Amino acid sequence: MDNGEISLSDREFEAVRNKVYKLAGISMSDAKRTLVVSRLSKIVRKLNLSTFSDYIDFLDRNASPDDIQEFINALTTNLTRFYREDHHFDHLVEHVGQLLEDPKIKASKRLRFWSAGCSTGQEPYTIAMALYNAYPQLKSWDMRILATDIDTDVVRRAQTGIYKENDLAGLSPERSKFFEPLGNGDVQIPDFIRRAIAFKPLNLMHDWPMKGPFDAIFCRNVAIYFNKPTQERMFTRMGELLAPHGYLYIGHSENLNSVSEKFKLVGKTIYKPKSEPASRSAA
Ligand SMILES: C[S@@+](CC[C@H](N)C(=O)[O-])C[C@H]1O[C@@H](n2cnc3c(N)ncnc32)[C@H](O)[C@@H]1O
Repeated sequence: MDNGEISLSDREFEAVRNKVYKLAGISMSDAKRTLVVSRLSKIVRKLNLSTFSDYIDFLDRNASPDDIQEFINALTTNLTRFYREDHHFDHLVEHVGQLLEDPKIKASKRLRFWSAGCSTGQEPYTIAMALYNAYPQLKSWDMRILATDIDTDVVRRAQTGIYKENDLAGLSPERSKFFEPLGNGDVQIPDFIRRAIAFKPLNLMHDWPMKGPFDAIFCRNVAIYFNKPTQERMFTRMGELLAPHGYLYIGHSENLNSVSEKFKLVGKTIYKPKSEPASRSAA
């Protein structure tokens, strides 16, 4: 192909699909074929290989963990934005307002949230900004947001807290008030907000090191890439990490019908755990 793209046979596409499923739980439809060609061709060329079969062979035999990670990073879809599906943040603010009245929580001053599949950070930063905006007293609380993603490139970018001014387009002055202009068309999330968030690479298909319980989990627009059994396993595990009073927020095109019996729907793409409470301990 003359645009630097390498042709991909049905067999090669199948092999790529199997690999990304095994590594990341991502189920790719036929519609992703063009995406695979455009994203992986660059890597194949960089490795001085000429076909996808050579690349798959390389991944099977000689690839380092970094090569495998590069393959995964290339195939993730990271679309996100600040205050995306903003009714979730209104709900969260109300939820935390109730927790602030809970004597036990008031005494511990401890809040824990998880943004699972956080991409470039807009989701966890929005959680923090919405909460600090509504409850400035949280600055002296032990509030922590764990933000994880399988894609190590987006996790690195998220950690900088640096975005383009354009990324704030459409946000009200109240919602954009925390961003600090850097004078070059970029803005940065202030230190006190960045300190509340721990960004970590984490493959949701692997073991999770954290114990919970979380006061809320955001796992939005991630499960759409997984098949039903994978979603079921993942959401069941999330249910185990949610506090009994916690909420699970999922993406606008996702639902837990026939995926998990462990949650009940309490709002638009907002769920509560049905069953056994997780005990409050270290997250
Ligand atoms: C479309 S983004 C969603 C970002 C954000 N949650 C939102 O709704 O705006 C999906 C993210 O899920 C991540 N992802 C896909 N498979 C994953 C896996 N197995 N483990 C962890 N993260 C994964 C991708 O890397 C990507 O950043």
